[in-house]
Amino acid sequence: MCGIVGYTGNEQAAPILLEGLAKLEYRGYDSAGLAVRDGEKLAEVVKATGKLYHLADKTDQGRALPGTCGIGHTRWATHGDPSMVNAHPHVSGNCSGSGSGQVESDVVGVHNGIIENFAELKEKLLHHGYEFYSDTDTEVVVKLVDYYYKKYKIGPVDAITRTMVRVRGSYALALMFKDFPGEIFAARKDSPLIIGTAKDASYLASDVPAILKYTRSVYYIGNLQAARVSPGQVKFYDLNGDEVTLPLSEITWDAAAAEKDGYEHFMLKEIHEQPAAVRDTLNSLVKEGRVSFSDAGLTDEIIRAVTQIDIVACGSAWHVGMAAQYVLEDLACVPVRVELASEFRYRSIPLGEHTLVIVISQSGETADSLAALRVAKERGAKTLAVVNVIGSSIAREADHVLYTLAGPEIAVATTKAYSAQLIAMDALAVQMAFVRGVISQEKYAQMLEELSTIPDKIKRVLEEKERIQWFSSKIVNAHDIFFIGRGLDYAISLEGSLKMKEISYIHSEAYAAGELKHGTISLIENNTLVIGVLTQSRLFEKTVSNMMECKSRGAYLMGLTTNGNFSVEDSVDFTVYVPKTDEHFVASLAVVPLQLLGYYTSVSRGLDVDKPRNLAKSVTVE
Ligand code: G6P
Repeated sequence: MCGIVGYTGNEQAAPILLEGLAKLEYRGYDSAGLAVRDGEKLAEVVKATGKLYHLADKTDQGRALPGTCGIGHTRWATHGDPSMVNAHPHVSGNCSGSGSGQVESDVVGVHNGIIENFAELKEKLLHHGYEFYSDTDTEVVVKLVDYYYKKYKIGPVDAITRTMVRVRGSYALALMFKDFPGEIFAARKDSPLIIGTAKDASYLASDVPAILKYTRSVYYIGNLQAARVSPGQVKFYDLNGDEVTLPLSEITWDAAAAEKDGYEHFMLKEIHEQPAAVRDTLNSLVKEGRVSFSDAGLTDEIIRAVTQIDIVACGSAWHVGMAAQYVLEDLACVPVRVELASEFRYRSIPLGEHTLVIVISQSGETADSLAALRVAKERGAKTLAVVNVIGSSIAREADHVLYTLAGPEIAVATTKAYSAQLIAMDALAVQMAFVRGVISQEKYAQMLEELSTIPDKIKRVLEEKERIQWFSSKIVNAHDIFFIGRGLDYAISLEGSLKMKEISYIHSEAYAAGELKHGTISLIENNTLVIGVLTQSRLFEKTVSNMMECKSRGAYLMGLTTNGNFSVEDSVDFTVYVPKTDEHFVASLAVVPLQLLGYYTSVSRGLDVDKPRNLAKSVTVE
């Protein structure tokens, strides 16, 4: 939620900042803004509502803004509507009109996160004569820094650390002070922020792709740490204002991985990257015919001792948990609960040292998932993070980390990260089953062999994409779509339905097929599309029966099943087949046509596939 960038060096800052923001637009795109300083001159602020290109147009792609030091922001509104006045950067002084123009203020800043006690702090500042022009919590925090800066006549770092002690919530902050030209000051708690350095320049960003073009040497600023950034040099401080040393890390990502590579949208590119994402993740876990979690420090002893698994996540990562639950229970005979992180964190679920809490997260920064992880640790459970972004907060705080190797994912609707998470969870289930003596050596080898065929089978599903594209053109005007299935097919339905609704804006629901009769079937009318997922042979007939109940009430049916189940064509109007595999692993294949269906439906409706309205990829607020 919200992306921030910063640059200080010898080059013109604004074009670099805009380029960085373009890479972060997946984090929010309600409005955007820049503040740039030309030497000792006052900062110039420019803001625009809507997508980033409005800001780029307004500044002639940044060329109209002179200066070599600046900060930028792309917003996903939390406090205050997406208007000019609420757009960042925010300033410590008063401001007239929309807030664009030269800034007399001592402090100007951008922020990602939420200041929970902003109302109380605003009260205090009003008391001290501050006036507020926006509805944002960011304006409050910028003014609080200014207040301490002036009251105690201290330097920027001390003013910032005092502010950090006083605010509650989450923040990644980048600030410029009038008295310190050429420098940017930063602070972080629970929101991502990296600082990159090159020979004569330094870069700040919420995420790696924003600076990858310029440097691969980055610092991961720690929680409750502050930084003073000048060209090619960064100093870090703890909450007491004492200097601390942080290690410099090298980013190994391929920069091309964050580009569209000839595809019309990131989402389509990422759908096509799934065979590689799954293969790479699998290859990192399966070595010499055995699953090895040694990088994660997850030993066979730990796996054997587990008596209960709680999987905690949000959005599609939660759907991975839902799918994994069936596989883990069936293969490893271990009880599994799957919880939404936003619920888990406020429940009083008893956890013990033999409970393994698995937090699944692409970004590793989702606020609720991070909070849930902390709750699990406090209650004494062992924690395992399944995370895509190296060095993210969840990865750093979990006892054990299993990295998915999906590479950078840009489209808001996840695809390849979902698939990489799923395969990692399948590998975990197979290993648990073996280590706990539920499956034989022979069965273990067979299952690993089958897992290794999944990437090629996904490729085969992708070869059928034109049929899905054709079908999506038929359903483009649908009002409601129902996805139904039982067992693992229900978990697949959940993800298929989310892919459809989040990017096509068509109302869709996923139901456990057996639940339909308890209410939902009353919504079925003539031509309502019902998509039945039918990959589990044990449950096939039952779900087909439920689909027939819908058909006799007017529904139009699509069936999604595995090759060979041709009898389904007698009952449904349109069928999609995926290759046969071990039924435990079929979600990796069956989800792909549903991703494509959502994608092509969104394209047919002329929507912004990669940046659906109101959503952000990384939800770093509650
Ligand atoms: C957002 C994204 C989803 C994602 C969810 C959880 O809603 O749009 O694609 O599944 O957050 O994110 P995480 O980074 O924790 O996997």
